[in-house]
Amino acid sequence: MSQRIAVYPGSFDPIHNGHLDIIERCRVIFDEVVIAVLHNEGKKPLFSVEERIDAIREAVGGEGTNCRVESFSGLLVDFVDRVGAQAVVRGLRAVSDFEYEMQMALMNRRLNPRVETVFLMPKQDYIYLSSRLVKEVFSLGGKLEGLVPDVVLRSLEARLRPDGRA
Ligand code: PNS
Repeated sequence: MSQRIAVYPGSFDPIHNGHLDIIERCRVIFDEVVIAVLHNEGKKPLFSVEERIDAIREAVGGEGTNCRVESFSGLLVDFVDRVGAQAVVRGLRAVSDFEYEMQMALMNRRLNPRVETVFLMPKQDYIYLSSRLVKEVFSLGGKLEGLVPDVVLRSLEARLRPDGRA
């Protein structure tokens, strides 16, 4: 039987525990999960693609997991074809996510009808979590323990509080 491969795409600037929760769920359903980090400097990310990939690799774990991390640019559906995947996985947190996600899913279907989009819901504890809020809260001195992996806490400290300010 052919491998069931899913692509989990995103900006991951930075990855947080809501993303990790979706990845864990995805790994149970699919034989392989390709975490695809968008290469788009136009979005002015806090972390470079390489930094985001390294953080995801450390957070997800190394050898023996059925995950790999890659970057992509251009159309997502073309990347999905290149890696031989059948599905795109997206996390759905709240009704507010729905419209944007539906537009993307239907546009992607139009661009490539072979690619299905699968929505997974994260654990309730994370439904309010976003990379934007992670950066904002941290930069204003808020605590993020339990919301991001340690590697991200360390990277945020180095990037946003290089002088060790609490
Ligand atoms: O984490 P994000 O920023 O919500 O992820 C958005 C992402 C990367 C999934 C989306 O911007 C994307 O797929 N970009 C690639 C370009 C593309 O295919 N655009 C058409 C989508 S309908």
